[in-house]
Amino acid sequence: MKSKQRRAETTAVRGGTDLHKKNGPLATPIYQTSTFEVTDNEEQLRVTPTDHHYTRYGNPTNTVAEKAIAELEGTDRALVFASGMNAITTSVLALLKGGDHIVAQRDIYGGAAKFFGQWLPKLGIETTFVDTTDYAQHERAVRPNTRLLYLESPTNPMLRIVDLRRAVAIAKQHNLITIIDSTFATPINCRPAEYGIDLVMHSGTKYFGGHSDLICGAMAGRSELIEKIHSTRTTLGGCLDPHAAWLLLRGIKTVAVRVQRQNENAMQVAHFLAQHPKVRHVYYPFLEGHPQRALAMEQMRGAGGIVSFEVEGSGEDARTLSEALHLFTLAPSLGGVDSLVCIPALTSHSMVPAEHREKMGITEQLIRLSVGIEHADDLVADLEQALAVVRSTGERVHVG
Ligand SMILES: Cc1ncc(COP(=O)(O)O)c(C=O)c1O
Repeated sequence: MKSKQRRAETTAVRGGTDLHKKNGPLATPIYQTSTFEVTDNEEQLRVTPTDHHYTRYGNPTNTVAEKAIAELEGTDRALVFASGMNAITTSVLALLKGGDHIVAQRDIYGGAAKFFGQWLPKLGIETTFVDTTDYAQHERAVRPNTRLLYLESPTNPMLRIVDLRRAVAIAKQHNLITIIDSTFATPINCRPAEYGIDLVMHSGTKYFGGHSDLICGAMAGRSELIEKIHSTRTTLGGCLDPHAAWLLLRGIKTVAVRVQRQNENAMQVAHFLAQHPKVRHVYYPFLEGHPQRALAMEQMRGAGGIVSFEVEGSGEDARTLSEALHLFTLAPSLGGVDSLVCIPALTSHSMVPAEHREKMGITEQLIRLSVGIEHADDLVADLEQALAVVRSTGERVHVG
């Protein structure tokens, strides 16, 4: 069976590997080496960007992970990086030059927003931030020197959904490169390249790794773009260590089953929260009442493992609730097998001025859950007991 015909569940387990090899190890070996022996000085002089030359250029363990990600996203090629941020910064620096302009959604990952808003201007690259779901605003922001449309879907932490067809249509009309941060979606739930997105980015730290034990990034897309990014990665030096690439590969083997379980658990958690009197609002793309539910259901196979909600009461109530949880660990990441909780206004968006935060919908009462693969009933029971500890007046209810 051709690899393109395989389903995502199969590609996740077998992707990137040569299924016809005989007597090889089933698990990809870790090529824990910085360099590779050359046959003669002539070969050394040629300095080819192969994965058998020098690990900053490439490494056989990393190459298998890159092939697996490209197969999952349905793209020509993919590259892995030392972090998700490194995938973003390297790619943008590879594709843009001084004098270019970017149109980016307002509610993208904070690190990316900081890079665009505070760092790129030093190189003469400006960014206009636009409302994620206002495509007329996207159009108006495009200038003659705009080169890049930067997207994220679903967004963090409000779980807004980008209409991929509309975004791609704008990009095509103005000849823009599109990059989407698809970390929250994963290729199990959505494959943006199928809609014509040029480059699909992941913080592999999250669902690909899946166990909260490594930091890595990935960028998947068309060969000619990936070639430029590869050359820039080699220059800037953000290569992934082969041991981390091996952990990434091991994570990828189970990404389909983990994400399917997380989709189900998150849906159950969202339904529970939606009917709770101490919960003011629940944000989950497949939940009845989500303003983009129809779009989400059309573009995505599942809505993912992140659920955000506003607790009835004050910021203090949100803190109390987040600290009263036992199974949801208070920690600022997501996508792993363990359920986590955080308050975006105090963590990922603490550097965003309060009025901007409010405009984005990120109130002090907003709590973000990264739902793991524990039993959904246990997760709901944990939320139930933590909500019982909170009084919407801000006082703790004394229990026990
Ligand atoms: C949506 C999203 N994109 C990018 C990043 C950055 O990835 P990394 O922490 O791997 O550099 C994160 C990290 O939290 C994220 O949540």
